[in-house]
Amino acid sequence: MNQDELKRAAALAALAHVVRGAVVGVGTGSTVNHFIDGLATMRGEIAGAVSSSEASTQRLSALGIPVFALDEVESIPVYVDGADEIDGSFNMIKGGGGALTREKIVAAVAERFVCICDASKRVERLGHFPLPVEVVPMARAHVARQLAKLGGRVVERADFVTDNGNLILDVHDLTIDDPVALESEVDHIAGVVTNGLFARRGADVLLLATPQGVRSLA
Ligand code: 5RP
Repeated sequence: MNQDELKRAAALAALAHVVRGAVVGVGTGSTVNHFIDGLATMRGEIAGAVSSSEASTQRLSALGIPVFALDEVESIPVYVDGADEIDGSFNMIKGGGGALTREKIVAAVAERFVCICDASKRVERLGHFPLPVEVVPMARAHVARQLAKLGGRVVERADFVTDNGNLILDVHDLTIDDPVALESEVDHIAGVVTNGLFARRGADVLLLATPQGVRSLA
């Protein structure tokens, strides 16, 4: 199986976690795209979706799945999303697709976070994948200096504007010993909107696709 087939296998396994009659939280990315395609087959069994990006909203809508604004829903039993890296405690780095802020908001509302990944995303220690940080444009230089003080090599993502009108700084070469502490530290830099560490609220379930099948870890 190639990587895309593994992503699809993890995504389809997540359909079993969708709560009938409820609204499902939907992440962003190539793995989630497979989940959205699968969700279309159970369109009549769910109330609809809350989406974490314009891209996912477009795909959901094109498949006839009702998309609600977060303010319109009372609860989201399950949120399904991918990750760029996930460790053994289900801390994640996310935001490779730049949708980290809305992803973190929808994940915060959801009761359960189901992470769908191919096996390459499972790591012993986070940080090989550069940490995405969404930044208000006027704070670019200030935030970059502060991130460099944390030991990172900061690269602005080229030709990229988030759905919220901000920019992304990708931080390479960070040593992430304590993901929860670093998530808070980066969030406290003035001008940072969100960072891609999902550790204070990590995943609850990991559906990890391997060539031997999808492993469900909790
Ligand atoms: C987008 C994300 C994605 O979940 C992450 O980048 C994984 O993407 P893919 O499923 O395409 O590998 O955080 O902001």
